[in-house]
Amino acid sequence: MRKVNKVNFKKTLGKFTTGITIVCVKEDDQVYGKTVNSFNSLSLDPPMVLFSLGNYSSSIKNFLSCKYLTINILSYGQKNISNHFSTKNPISKNINFLKGKNNTALIDGCIGNLECKLIDKIKQGDHIIFICKVIRVQSKDKIKPLSYFNSKYY
Ligand SMILES: Cc1cc2nc3c(=O)[nH]c(=O)nc-3n(C[C@H](O)[C@H](O)[C@H](O)COP(=O)(O)O)c2cc1C
Repeated sequence: MRKVNKVNFKKTLGKFTTGITIVCVKEDDQVYGKTVNSFNSLSLDPPMVLFSLGNYSSSIKNFLSCKYLTINILSYGQKNISNHFSTKNPISKNINFLKGKNNTALIDGCIGNLECKLIDKIKQGDHIIFICKVIRVQSKDKIKPLSYFNSKYY
């Protein structure tokens, strides 16, 4: 075992294989999305999930002030969408959004989508944990997920 530093911490966390989600908020007609793999289930009853966003993120204000948001679980063919939403202030002209309830935006072609109500925000370290109650969901059985391991897509 070695004492933790930024380099070996990131490298070790990279050994944990995850799926990839895009978290989206909509303000008026503008959608703000971020690529996030810190998504996790939290509670079955009531249905709740969580994810964390860096407090330095260019979209943090939009997420802190939203009431509703969506979490979109990417399918294998959506690497370009993951890359798009991990850039600063992405302009989402070519992304196909579907309308959700409560003025939310869902990404088309995902393996799963969740419509959520934001119920709590917890600041820890340089990130903020967003705790969400899930309102509506949909999922597809016949497509593969996009996975992330060691900073690479699989
Ligand atoms: C696969 C992948 C997963 C990511 N997961 C997270 C995450 O869980 N939380 C987070 O704050 N940023 C995450 N990021 C980084 C953000 O997508 C984004 O690049 C970062 O917040 C910097 O851009 P911004 O300042 O516009 O937000 C991830 C990036 C990638 C490529």
